[in-house]
Amino acid sequence: MSRTADIRNTDASAIDTHAQQAEPIVRFAGVGLRYGRAPEVLSDLTFELEAGSFHFLTGPSGAGKTTLLRLMQLDLKPSRGLVSLFGQNIEQLRRRDLPFVRRRIGVVLHDRRLLEHLDAFDNVALPLRLAGRKPADYAADVTELLAWVGLSNRVKAHPSSLSSGEQQRLAIARAVVSRPDILLADEPTGDVDHEMALRILRLFVELNRLGTTVLIASHDEELIARSGKPVMRIEDGHLDIREAP
Ligand SMILES: Nc1ncnc2c1ncn2[C@@H]1O[C@H](COP(=O)(O)OP(=O)(O)OP(=O)(O)O)[C@@H](O)[C@H]1O
Ligand SMILES: [Mg+2]
Repeated sequence: MSRTADIRNTDASAIDTHAQQAEPIVRFAGVGLRYGRAPEVLSDLTFELEAGSFHFLTGPSGAGKTTLLRLMQLDLKPSRGLVSLFGQNIEQLRRRDLPFVRRRIGVVLHDRRLLEHLDAFDNVALPLRLAGRKPADYAADVTELLAWVGLSNRVKAHPSSLSSGEQQRLAIARAVVSRPDILLADEPTGDVDHEMALRILRLFVELNRLGTTVLIASHDEELIARSGKPVMRIEDGHLDIREAP
């Protein structure tokens, strides 16, 4: 009863805001994805991610984990069904809005997409620069983050002179530096030792504590078990969500 009264007494813009907050940050409804004419890699995926949640994504090699992450970062469109991010159907996004939506999503990909003409520091600082922040106010954050991922002595190095584990850590630092609303990471600890993997997990947990919704594709069963986080598993095109192991 009071809810009806509230709505009657509230202006339309306030109702919109309320509706947006209630919406999950990621929603898939009946999503299928095929590459070209091949059979569907993903079939009838229906799930929601609440804002502020943290999940691992597992499943056999070739099951579709990277494909699912690509759908969430607007790199692929579903062959059928609905994908919505931040309460908006991605089919209805205008081309000119895409960069703004992408900027809210931090990604760590296999292909690291590091910029060779920038050194490690400037690669990490780039998302902040693009967001209009001034070097004086982000330099300390970038330096601290590079130290966290063990790259303090490689600040001036360019990506091609880094080992693959160092490139992976640099890509992670760049993905988290702007505290994105969503963080998507594809095997982010595949190229680092166990101790560094735990350190990176702590970084993601801290980011999540600050409000970021996190989804990490990983084969590292030990890391997943240690995290105590729920697991989304894809197999044979279908998805199953298990609570913490
Ligand atoms: N660009 C593409 N064109 C055609 N088929 C593709 C493409 N990318 C992936 N596939 C196919 O889609 C299926 C799922 O691939 P995907 O990379 O999503 O799996 P994955 O779960 O990430 O595997 P892995 O654990 O090995 O990384 C595979 O059969 C793969 O061969
Ligand atoms: Mg993959």
